[in-house]
Amino acid sequence: MTENGNGKKLWAIGGGKGGIGKSIFTLGLGISLARLGKRVILMDADLGGANLHTLMGVRYPAHTLEDFLLKRVENLEDTVLDTQIAGIGLICGADDILGAANPTYSQKIRVLNQIASLPADFVLLDLGAGTSFNTLDFFNYSAGKIAVFTSQATSLQNVYGFLKNSLFRRISREFAKDEEVLWLLHQTGSKAPEVKIESLSELLNLLQRKKPDQYRELRQLLRDYQVLVVVNMIKADRDFQAAQIIQNVSNRFLELSPQVLGYLHYDQAIEQAVNQMVPFPMNVQKSRAAVELREIAQTIIDRYAPPSDLEAPAYQQEEEKAAAGSSWSSFWRRAPAQ
Ligand SMILES: Nc1ncnc2c1ncn2[C@@H]1O[C@H](COP(=O)(O)OP(=O)(O)OP(=O)(O)O)[C@@H](O)[C@H]1O
Ligand SMILES: [Mg+2]
Repeated sequence: MTENGNGKKLWAIGGGKGGIGKSIFTLGLGISLARLGKRVILMDADLGGANLHTLMGVRYPAHTLEDFLLKRVENLEDTVLDTQIAGIGLICGADDILGAANPTYSQKIRVLNQIASLPADFVLLDLGAGTSFNTLDFFNYSAGKIAVFTSQATSLQNVYGFLKNSLFRRISREFAKDEEVLWLLHQTGSKAPEVKIESLSELLNLLQRKKPDQYRELRQLLRDYQVLVVVNMIKADRDFQAAQIIQNVSNRFLELSPQVLGYLHYDQAIEQAVNQMVPFPMNVQKSRAAVELREIAQTIIDRYAPPSDLEAPAYQQEEEKAAAGSSWSSFWRRAPAQ
């Protein structure tokens, strides 16, 4: 399965490790995009430990993704909560239901299909820690893929593992019916291989010689698999090197060339906002991290998002739908905060 018709609307924020700022970044990016006039929906896809709503100051969400997964509501749009920030809607995660952390394939497809018609310019998925299939799948289904990490050795290790697992899952889905390629992929980088293949570039060489069609297909997949990286909690100049480290290993072992989307300094204003349950950077426009988030949002709009005139007709349809009685129809009528 590919990006499911969501174009550059759906963005996933992952990183493997817990506590490195995935949720903070998702929220900060969402607020910054909204301030630049975009309609944003944040979706907490951390199905095991949802807490994005807490960061947004929502104590008791009226609806969560669970309502949609369990078909208590028909439309995903009905789970979108209005928030105190103009231009931002929130879909809260489902964290306290048996099995919700592990939605079935058809449940995921329902979610993805409906994301495409959500009334937003951007839908940002805040992924959980770890490399569960759900997390990897949501990352892979998203047109925009952002990996967040810090310069800590454990974070670097985990984000590399996250990227590798995501990519390998994507490749195994692509070649799901080709047992030979699947077997070779399984050998690649394995600790106890039957055939020694140390990297994807070795696998590519092998395919080029033995299976040229599959070689071309894999090359194309790797070209299309674009990941953006963000280094968070920068405290010293040497922390910037973290991006280079991930670029180097991704290049060397995964044949990927992640681009740097931006850097976020460690900022006490973030800690304070979290403790006060105030969404960062709602009240803090001038702190260092707030400025960096705004730059990142601008980069996404300028460089990675489609021109809005191409999207206008779709929005008009959505507006008509809203006028016909959507539960969230006030969303785009309110002027986003500047
Ligand atoms: N740039 C930053 N400056 C200061 N503190 C930060 C920064 N980024 C994150 N934090 C702190 O780190 C904490 C963890 O961040 P966050 O909840 O976003 O992590 P996470 O990666 O989403 O974790 P989990 O996987 O457990 O959901 C935040 O509560 C905040 O206090
Ligand atoms: Mg989180």
